[in-house]
Amino acid sequence: MTSFEFNGAVAVVTGGAGGIGKAVAARFGALGARVAVVDLNLDRAQEVADSIPGAIALAADVGDPDAVAAMVASVEASLGPIDLYFSNAGIATGPGLGDDEAWERSWRVHGMAHVYAARCVIPGMAQRGSGAMVITASAAGLLMMMQSAPYTVTKHASVAIAEWLAVNYGSSGVSLHCLCPQGVRTPMVTGGDGAGRSELEASGEIIEPSVVAAEVVAALRDGKFLILPHPQVHEYEKAKVADRDRWLAGMRRLLARVAGN
Ligand SMILES: NC(=O)c1ccc[n+]([C@@H]2O[C@H](COP(=O)([O-])OP(=O)(O)OC[C@H]3O[C@@H](n4cnc5c(N)ncnc54)[C@H](O)[C@@H]3O)[C@@H](O)[C@H]2O)c1
Repeated sequence: MTSFEFNGAVAVVTGGAGGIGKAVAARFGALGARVAVVDLNLDRAQEVADSIPGAIALAADVGDPDAVAAMVASVEASLGPIDLYFSNAGIATGPGLGDDEAWERSWRVHGMAHVYAARCVIPGMAQRGSGAMVITASAAGLLMMMQSAPYTVTKHASVAIAEWLAVNYGSSGVSLHCLCPQGVRTPMVTGGDGAGRSELEASGEIIEPSVVAAEVVAALRDGKFLILPHPQVHEYEKAKVADRDRWLAGMRRLLARVAGN
């Protein structure tokens, strides 16, 4: 596995208009990548692109296969073949067990979006024998977001898709990575009704998006699949696998604490 070369690379960052995506786009740009900032919100994506030399902004719904294909074609026409795809757009879908609409949106944005992107960019990377894709899942994809079933389950799907791609394409020179943070100070956490925030605060430190961006760059350079900006997530995952009944009991206690029972 060779270290990823950022200088001159064409990089797509979805969900790039804010939060983690904005910080990662800035970092990639600072390292010399030619960045396409993609988001549902074109005005905010354009503001981010304007702050990065040579970057462009595009509007696309990552949960729509035709929109993803058109966006990829447009990036490749403007900047050339995509070397790095940061599949990061995500939504907060709570609370509780969720209604059908929350599940449908979550599956599209946290599941199918990564599949649509992979279909468009991975065959070309494999043919060229180089390239990288990073999928933003969440610590909830390894453990749990106790207050949202759709978020938890579809983030597990994000992790599984990244692992599947790593096994199937990792021998073709394409490096696959999965980002699984806990709390990060972004509009997803600081906005809204604060329901998810109390759970994140109870689970550990809320870190800055720039810290996450630095971890993403380090993992791309080191060829490391799992990106854990909160290292304790690895310990929690080990505890889960070692004794699920004990882990579930601990999670029930944490839920009671977060819910104020
Ligand atoms: N903030 C956290 O604590 C945290 C923790 C773990 C994982 N994550 C994940 O990190 C990723 C980035 O989240 P963030 O915290 O920066 O949130 P954010 O809300 O700041 O950014 C998400 C961006 O995605 C965009 N987006 C949403 N749906 C889209 C769609 N269908 N098509 C295109 N763009 C779309 C939004 O417009 C927004 O700009 C998400 O996948 C999120 O689930 C966040």
